[in-house]
Amino acid sequence: MATNDENTKNLHQAQEPEYDEITHERLLSDHEYDGIRELDNDLPPWWKYLFYISIVFAIVFILVYHVFESADLQVVLYEKEMAAAAAKYKRTDPSAVAASLTVLTDDESLADGKITYDKICSVCHAKNGEGLIGPNFTDEYWIHGGTIQDMYKIVITGVLDKGMISYKDQLSPKKIQNVLSYIISLEGTNPPNPKAPQGDRWVNGEKVAE
Ligand code: HEC
Repeated sequence: MATNDENTKNLHQAQEPEYDEITHERLLSDHEYDGIRELDNDLPPWWKYLFYISIVFAIVFILVYHVFESADLQVVLYEKEMAAAAAKYKRTDPSAVAASLTVLTDDESLADGKITYDKICSVCHAKNGEGLIGPNFTDEYWIHGGTIQDMYKIVITGVLDKGMISYKDQLSPKKIQNVLSYIISLEGTNPPNPKAPQGDRWVNGEKVAE
């Protein structure tokens, strides 16, 4: 136990600054290791200001993001972006657009339709639509109906037992609309070696009684 006198003495010593013998800079008096002592320097200003700035930043951050919630946290930003992306890349349900389909006649759509036709459909419906495994597209006869809606249904459901698969997952509604518009544009082109007509006769989207 230190006596009152000793305490006063220690206090007195602590208050009396010690100086380095060579540089005469003030020394920290409370520790010393093997004769090595530390100078009682102030913290460098750049460090102090960074520290103060970080305190101010933290207070502003807490107020903005957690107290007034006037800006979105990263989690919320992430969720918003994901929702926006989901909305942007959402696939249209192919059956939902069937009713509003129209036959396109512009060059761009028909040219795109021809590309799809040559790549996928021509294998079975033949190069010029004259028919092979699948029916002839250049006559007025249709097995499943002669409107673009009827044809659209066939393309998205397929006729599996006859060998035509569904193209619902391969082609977008727009691509299907283009290829069907192209097929419809082939009517009356009379290519060589046509396959015999199949189904009912359709004129201008109406079934004609024979
Ligand atoms: C593997 C062969 C094959 C391919 C490839 C094929 N089809 Fe077919 N398609 C058929 C057959 C077979 C039928 C006849 C089905 C029946 O008799 O009921 C048919 C029928 C159709 C019909 C209905 C014709 C009618 O008379 O009612 C349309 C429209 C059609 N195909 C469009 C297409 C389109 C567009 C493509 C390319 C994206 C395509 N098909 C690719 C085999 C094919």
